[in-house]
Amino acid sequence: MKRGFFITFEGGEGSGKSIQVEILASHLHEEGHAVVITREPGGTRVGEQIRTITHDPENVDLEAITEAYLMAASRAQHVAQIIEPSIESGKIVVCDRYVDSSIAYQGFGRRLGAETIEKLNALAMNGAIPDLTILLDVPVGIGLERRLKSRKQKDRLDLQEKSFYERVSDGYRQLAKKYPNRYVVVDATKSIEAVAREIWNIVKAKINHHDKK
Ligand code: TMP
Repeated sequence: MKRGFFITFEGGEGSGKSIQVEILASHLHEEGHAVVITREPGGTRVGEQIRTITHDPENVDLEAITEAYLMAASRAQHVAQIIEPSIESGKIVVCDRYVDSSIAYQGFGRRLGAETIEKLNALAMNGAIPDLTILLDVPVGIGLERRLKSRKQKDRLDLQEKSFYERVSDGYRQLAKKYPNRYVVVDATKSIEAVAREIWNIVKAKINHHDKK
């Protein structure tokens, strides 16, 4: 059985990841691919329980390092139960956030350092590196405005100051530079349809290339 393909979506608040994940998955379905849509933190029963802890606004006292471990714990469960078995059985996995979110948010945003987070996640990932990472790039101010409009209730991660999100955004830019082979940066200030078209063209090309290998 030929290995499947692993696509991750990354981006700051209000970058429109979730809708783009859905649109991409429906294009892939239409083309006859077996697709698994999933997300982090979460994606498994235990992972969703961890997500309840990380998003609870009452957990204002959560230590940065504890947050990093919770994200990595959710990831370990997710890789073992969903990501790796799906890729192994030839499916295309489309994941809303993955390890780069930990590097950007905990490494840069919370200032734990990119290297510390990469080390902490190595065991959790067990070698599952994305084939393609789509970074939806939107200026921090615009992203936060969009997010506020679309959210009824604020979660714990909505309650950071703007400089935190600026560091996250800077982290993502550095990751895109560090991993040019798997990263594509898409301007997410454009319309949902325009962004979706651009993503579909990128994914189609990558998957065709992968199928020919
Ligand atoms: P979202 O699904 O609405 O994007 O919410 C996920 C939040 O969790 C978002 O604020 C980013 C944060 N997060 C981390 O801080 N580290 C991680 O490793 C992941 C996966 C998410």
